[in-house]
Amino acid sequence: MKTIEAIEFDARVRDAEILSEDRFGPKVYRTADGRMIKLFRIKRLFSTARLIPYARRFERAAEELKARGIHTVEVVECLRVKGRARDAVVYRPVLGGTLRDSIAGNADEILIRFSKFFASLHALGVYFRAAHFANFIVEPGGGFAMIDISEAHFSRGALRLAGRVRNFRHLARHEPDRASLEAFGIARFCETYLEASRLDDATRARFKRAVAAVHPIFGGLS
Ligand SMILES: Nc1ncnc2c1ncn2[C@@H]1O[C@H](COP(=O)(O)OP(=O)(O)OP(=O)(O)O)[C@@H](O)[C@H]1O
Ligand SMILES: [Mg+2]
Repeated sequence: MKTIEAIEFDARVRDAEILSEDRFGPKVYRTADGRMIKLFRIKRLFSTARLIPYARRFERAAEELKARGIHTVEVVECLRVKGRARDAVVYRPVLGGTLRDSIAGNADEILIRFSKFFASLHALGVYFRAAHFANFIVEPGGGFAMIDISEAHFSRGALRLAGRVRNFRHLARHEPDRASLEAFGIARFCETYLEASRLDDATRARFKRAVAAVHPIFGGLS
């Protein structure tokens, strides 16, 4: 992690396009050379962000994902901006558009493939806390990639039932994604996921009971 002066940071983003911002200011820039710069606020003096900065977590997650063969952005560097209480990660974006935007075209075909991709993430021990449809990219070849990865967690083997179920709750958190899932068919999405996950019958039954308890949209499964 490299520390830079605020003035240098400002120079880097001078001609950049702001892709995302909130009430604290810009969160993601696209610079003229096609890179992205994502900012993280350092919230409190003793928060865990001080121990392992979010920018570093992002970088580590990119390495972990790559090691598992999952596509994600290419991290160039991690920065700490002096006097701003901000860290930043600089990366090259993956090609493609977000799953949320892509769904508008051919929801049916994309969600079949996405449910299988979600199963493969879990099989590979990836628990993606920020799992909503704007944090997955549909690549030109039709594959999926992950962005916004600082809160991805990794286990050695496949995810256990509780992790799978919690991750399904994340998918149902945002209204546009919920609407897409419902239009596609909740049972169909879950069945495709379960089929791809090759869980035994008893575990499937437990999954359906557990997922029904985390969000009402999964209520009609068992
Ligand atoms: N191919 C791509 N690679 C990376 N980012 C992309 C790509 N296409 C679009 N984006 C956009 O880049 C921005 C990066 O978003 P990111 O998910 O990292 O942060 P955020 O969602 O704005 O912030 P947060 O989720 O932390 O509140 C988003 O606006 C996303 O839609
Ligand atoms: Mg995001």
